[in-house]
Amino acid sequence: MRIAWRQAKGGDRRLTLTVVWCECGFICPSDRARLEVLFADPTGGGAMPMIYLDHNATTPIDPAVLEAMLPFLRGEFGNPSSAYALGRRAGEAIARARGEVARLIGAGPEEIVFTGSATEATNLAIRGAIGNDRQRAGVVTTSIEHPATVSCCNLLERSGHPVHRVGVGTNGILAPGRVAEVLHDGTALVTIIHAQNEIGTIQPVGEIARLAKRHGALVHTDAAQSVGKIPVDVDALAVDLLTIAGHKLYGPKGVGALFVRKETAISPLMVGAGQEHGLRPGTENVANIVGLGAACALAAQTQGQFAGQMRKLSLTLLARLQAEVPGLRLVGDAQRRLPNTLNVLFPDAIGRAVLDACPDLMASTGSACHAESEQPSSILTALGIAPGIALGAVRLSLGRSSTAADVERAAYQLSAAWRRVRA
Ligand SMILES: Cc1ncc(COP(=O)(O)O)c(C=O)c1O
Repeated sequence: MRIAWRQAKGGDRRLTLTVVWCECGFICPSDRARLEVLFADPTGGGAMPMIYLDHNATTPIDPAVLEAMLPFLRGEFGNPSSAYALGRRAGEAIARARGEVARLIGAGPEEIVFTGSATEATNLAIRGAIGNDRQRAGVVTTSIEHPATVSCCNLLERSGHPVHRVGVGTNGILAPGRVAEVLHDGTALVTIIHAQNEIGTIQPVGEIARLAKRHGALVHTDAAQSVGKIPVDVDALAVDLLTIAGHKLYGPKGVGALFVRKETAISPLMVGAGQEHGLRPGTENVANIVGLGAACALAAQTQGQFAGQMRKLSLTLLARLQAEVPGLRLVGDAQRRLPNTLNVLFPDAIGRAVLDACPDLMASTGSACHAESEQPSSILTALGIAPGIALGAVRLSLGRSSTAADVERAAYQLSAAWRRVRA
């Protein structure tokens, strides 16, 4: 007789007990009969790993990135501004990181300014770009920006700058023609998210930037979600300013970067000892900067391979969900999207309730910033989705380590949860 446990199909928490026996009563290659029974997991489920599908909220630090950082958290503690060898080595490490970040986005190293986060990079870009040209005061942005951009634009508006928020189509994509309608020679800045963090749609930034240039406006894009997931090139996008986030591409939290095209006039938000070309004074966070550089170097090598893998897995996940949940809808354009991001609307259910009923799944209902909110996402309502329907949203964002088994288990758990909680 032979007894074996294996995980049940669909990746749920039950295990299959297979008992095989034959006439001789011993382990035998000629299986005569087979009995399969589904049992509850005798470990109570604790043995099954959690499924992490929230890579747009944050990613783990890649082990190679951590290795690169560790020396600068140990013996290599010099201040990069110090003239002796310990300090010089820290300065050289920052210079290497600057080159790695620049290479990933087709920029020059002198065009990279390290910041404490993507939020800070966006503040520096938007608030730093305004007020340098007295003839220009206007800002053009979209209805689907991250709160970092929204808040900067609101601040500028309160201090008297005209802000145009251009709406997107029901597919979550901005039509360049709609931006062209509001551009004029008094426009100081156009700021457009590159890949939307909640729904993953990719905006035609290059096309819009070229329209903005005809009016002499500066162009900023928040590329926190796209850098490291898809090819991003500052010349192809024709932008002057571009935001990067360390922890969205397997680097550490608490570090970001702003690309500032050569000869672009922006003002610092803080004053101090002049680090980062005077645009971000304060002693540099060497370990985090080194980590961001290593993460960018890694992304340059691997992003093509991972993009293909994530696209395939996310399409499988969508197909499984659509098969199990009649009426489930994908939010946003099916093609022009990040390869890792799915935002789906569960019919007749609240997305938060569906997720709460999934024991092993970590995902979100909107951006992490309003994960606690019961309000429908403003991004979804900006696409014309009715608030009641938008509450059914769940964002599933895959990462480099996501597997086919994760996708199967997630689809099984989500559809089973939906059946339990639907109205
Ligand atoms: C598109 C986008 N921009 C900016 C940010 C802000 O990043 P951080 O919180 O690291 O400053 C995020 C983070 O969610 C994001 O997704």
